[in-house]
Amino acid sequence: MKKVKTCIFPVAGLGSRFLPATKSIPKEMLVVVDKPLIQYAVEEAKAAGIERFIFVTSQGKSAIEDHFDSSPTLETILKKRGKDQELQALEGLRLEPGQAIYIRQHAPLGLGHAVLCAEALVNEEAFAVILADDLVLSREPCLKQMLNAYQKEQGNMVGVMDVPYDQTHRYGILKISKEEGQKVYADGVFEKPDIQKAPSRVAIIGRYVLKKEIFHHLHKQHPGAGGEIQLTDALQKMIPEKPLCGFRYSGQRFDCGTKEGWLEANIAFAASCPELRLNLKTVLGKYSF
Ligand code: G1P
Repeated sequence: MKKVKTCIFPVAGLGSRFLPATKSIPKEMLVVVDKPLIQYAVEEAKAAGIERFIFVTSQGKSAIEDHFDSSPTLETILKKRGKDQELQALEGLRLEPGQAIYIRQHAPLGLGHAVLCAEALVNEEAFAVILADDLVLSREPCLKQMLNAYQKEQGNMVGVMDVPYDQTHRYGILKISKEEGQKVYADGVFEKPDIQKAPSRVAIIGRYVLKKEIFHHLHKQHPGAGGEIQLTDALQKMIPEKPLCGFRYSGQRFDCGTKEGWLEANIAFAASCPELRLNLKTVLGKYSF
């Protein structure tokens, strides 16, 4: 099995649920504790061995490019002031020329379309996709767990978790044919089904390892749920050719595309941070709910 070296980050979405906070900053730059969401996503990809980072952006997203670029003025000031730790943090953040590629999705035509925009830049047999607003707190980074498990797979793999039936309309939902430990195999997958039509409560989170053939199906894909070109629909079309495997990762996922999920992520990440843990307990103790 060849190594998965490329990861696509679809970051063109409007972030309208977080307006006005996201009026002039990308939703992927929303901070959880001390880092923007997109930095968590890139760090997760790096930890999984990813070497090429493709960001599918849109207008108003230049803060993401700046975040992973060098910042000579800031770095000079930090150096002069002897702020070595801060300087190191900035250096670790930088993506080298050629490692980071930014391309535009010219119209909000859906996740499937966003992934298709990167087609010409994917050279290998398989590539990863991370949706930055799905943040996963885990001992071993989620994508790394998936790429380890992917070694024995021939088809597409998606990160999955169980959701309550009344939430299936928010996710891609798998129709399960077989379960093997952390792996669940699907003979169908449906984008945002109503509770009555949901074939299970096994939901896709924003982690994918996809075979290059997915592009072929995305090209032919008509608009689906919400009038958008859905990645889920292309996954469904590919099932007769290649197995679709859902991977039950170990960890806790937060939907940082919603205020509730983002707030909980802040609490969970602060609680997992030794310097903040005690203070967080004291602060939360001040409020009665
Ligand atoms: C997208 C996918 C959906 C998946 C979800 C995970 O939906 O289309 O299949 O379950 O991400 O967060 P979105 O949340 O972008 O509407």
